[in-house]
Amino acid sequence: MIHVGTHGRWENIIFQPTQKVIQSAADMLRSGQLVAFPTETVYGLGADATNDDAVAAIFRAKGRPQTNPLIIHVPGASQASKLVRFDARAERVADAFWPGALTLVLERTADCPVTARASAGLSTLAVRSPNHPIAQAVLQASEIPLAAPSANLSGHVSPTTAQHVGDGFDGAVDMILDGGPSTIGVESTVVALDRATPEILRPGAISAEALADTLGVAVKTLTPSNEEMTRVPARSPGMMRSHYAPRAEIRLNATAVSGDEGFLAFGDAAPHGAAITRNLSEAANLGEAAGRLYAALRDLDQSGVNVIAVAPIPNTGIGVAINDRLGRAAAPRS
Ligand code: TXA
Ligand code: MG
Repeated sequence: MIHVGTHGRWENIIFQPTQKVIQSAADMLRSGQLVAFPTETVYGLGADATNDDAVAAIFRAKGRPQTNPLIIHVPGASQASKLVRFDARAERVADAFWPGALTLVLERTADCPVTARASAGLSTLAVRSPNHPIAQAVLQASEIPLAAPSANLSGHVSPTTAQHVGDGFDGAVDMILDGGPSTIGVESTVVALDRATPEILRPGAISAEALADTLGVAVKTLTPSNEEMTRVPARSPGMMRSHYAPRAEIRLNATAVSGDEGFLAFGDAAPHGAAITRNLSEAANLGEAAGRLYAALRDLDQSGVNVIAVAPIPNTGIGVAINDRLGRAAAPRS
């Protein structure tokens, strides 16, 4: 196997995904081990979704509350239909957006082989077919549904490179497949299709408008303050207010900065004088900004500043997802 990586002590578990490496990743997953792999959104921490011990190991490694359900990854709609009730609406959005940055929450089938732990005991299950050649190769070689939350410690910034994954875990991950930086950079849109009205539980690259167009019905977006999100049990238990949080405090909609702050800029009109600046997109392109978001937050955090000031980001298209993540990163930590 080819070892790569020069970023510290985890380099010996980061691998370039040759065919041989993919096969060992699949074998490891089938034997209950944890393998992190790239997707087009963020890196996922994968385990056999039908193996209760392997799924428990994901929760342990991430320090994730057992009440927060995982997304189950499949090659496509035909495999998903064995796990969840894949109705006409599901077929329709899967046709339009799979493989891709869209997760569907649907009722489990009666004989769904995924362990109840993976969906935190809920009657529904979240399924996604990722649009990434390495993720697809691992899914196809392993021939099992893979539970894969974002490969970060619970509540922290999500990973968009193999090094980010390695930085977060202390030996709990058995292998990390290096697929370079994730192209989209923020997690998938999560849409619940288990009720009459489709509900977006987490905004992502696939917009509410695009989903409404495809389904031909109105789609509701649940924000963090929505009553359904805040009561216990919540509509989407993982979508707690504080999340995606770096160590530093986040100050949103900043139009000026002080010399001891880090600055997360957007566009070319960045104010000067910050201790350190990372620009999400000089060209004010929201897709580029999403792609750079998590790496920029990590960089600014690692520089040691106590406050990261963030420029206003337009709330359209994938900007909705960027603002959602920044809002959660800025929320009071619990
Ligand atoms: O882009 C992504 O979706 C990435 C990549 C790796 O695929 N995965 C990801 O997983 O972001 P995770 O575990 O970090 O986020 C899963 C989200 C959580 O907000 C969780 O609450 C929600 O999906 N979720 C999972 N199952 C659910 C269910 N049955 N009902 C409602 N929400 C659910
Ligand atoms: Mg996550």
